[in-house]
Amino acid sequence: MIKNAIVIGATSGIGKELAKILSQHGYIVGLAGRRTHLLDELRNELSNNSFAKHIDISQTDKAIKQLEELIAEMGGADVIVISSGVGYLNKDLQMVPGKRNH
Ligand SMILES: NC(=O)c1ccc[n+]([C@@H]2O[C@H](COP(=O)([O-])OP(=O)(O)OC[C@H]3O[C@@H](n4cnc5c(N)ncnc54)[C@H](OP(=O)(O)O)[C@@H]3O)[C@@H](O)[C@H]2O)c1
Repeated sequence: MIKNAIVIGATSGIGKELAKILSQHGYIVGLAGRRTHLLDELRNELSNNSFAKHIDISQTDKAIKQLEELIAEMGGADVIVISSGVGYLNKDLQMVPGKRNH
């Protein structure tokens, strides 16, 4: 049976690669993020049917509504992965970012 998976944060990094892997394994994938041109590019790359939706998780109420819309458009979701976010490297292992350890 074909399963549906949604990846929020599918425009780059971990989410993008995960979306490709899920598609390769036969999932119908719902791609979400803010950079819609990258969502469309990825849709064109995927061999399986896929969906794309602009979702900005920083706008919580709107994002929940848009996620519900995407689930409805796809006819349900078996897996939802939220891989969106930002990270900052702390190569010097500073206790307080921006200040030196002593
Ligand atoms: N890579 C690692 O080794 C690693 C290790 C541990 C933890 N993490 C964490 O895992 C997460 C993903 O890492 P990554 O390396 O895949 O990062 P990435 O390449 O920068 O990808 C981040 C993804 O999050 C999306 N995103 C950012 N803000 C968003 C928002 N407000 N609404 C919706 N989507 C948003 C981006 O899409 P848009 O910009 O198009 O919206 C993009 O698709 C980050 O939080 C990172 O800190 C990463």
